[in-house]
Amino acid sequence: MRVAGRVTACICGEIARCVGPGVETGELDALARELISKAGGRSAFLGYRGYPGHVCISVNEEVVHGIPGRRRVEMGDIVSLDVGVEVDGFIGDTATTVGVGVTDPGRLRLISAGEEALRRGIEAARAGARLSDISHAIEQSVLRRGFSVVRDFVGHGVGRKMHEEPQIPNFGPAGRGPKLAAGMTLAIEPMINGGSHEVRVLDDGWTVVTRDGAPSVHFEHTIAIAEGEAEILTSAGSERKN
Ligand code: MF3
Ligand code: CO
Ligand code: CO
Repeated sequence: MRVAGRVTACICGEIARCVGPGVETGELDALARELISKAGGRSAFLGYRGYPGHVCISVNEEVVHGIPGRRRVEMGDIVSLDVGVEVDGFIGDTATTVGVGVTDPGRLRLISAGEEALRRGIEAARAGARLSDISHAIEQSVLRRGFSVVRDFVGHGVGRKMHEEPQIPNFGPAGRGPKLAAGMTLAIEPMINGGSHEVRVLDDGWTVVTRDGAPSVHFEHTIAIAEGEAEILTSAGSERKN
């Protein structure tokens, strides 16, 4: 899981660096295909329930599961990248949202609210805590910032399969669900909307968008539960804690 996590994080970071004005999301998908194959991995998404891309790329009002294609990224866009890679039978699953020359204060606040929600969720994910402590921590941090949490999609256990038990909602009361134990591997993934929490799926059968057209962000890490702070498996390893 550590190797898969590290590889997935590095690929996500590489793609994120290539997100800029004028790039087509399909070009980013081609880059993903190349990086995944170079790493000796396999996209966990391609062919999953018929999904046609190597990664998911969701722009602005798109929440998750955006299919890469001819859409061109423009200045001011917020672009969510979701990357899942299988390496030696284990899966890493991570997502991040990149602002492209974003100056709109509401959009900047939305991005940092998404980062904070993921961080709070991870902080709550400790051995001995209950599963829904994660959900509650995420929801509280988002509500404090005045944004809304998507309720129709959830985090999940992850391991040899991308989606394992348990499901991890990003909202709800604390103190419910199974006790977390060291060694459990989970994908925590808050999706935060700038407007209402309501979403719908486009006719392509995949792309989830906000009903009101407001922008949305998505951040995800694969983590391993430990006695103290959880270990972030989808970290590229070059981050510094200052
Ligand atoms: N990686 C997504 C998640 O975080 C699932 C993508 S579904 C796919 O759970 F079909 F696009 F692969
Ligand atoms: Co994901
Ligand atoms: Co996931």
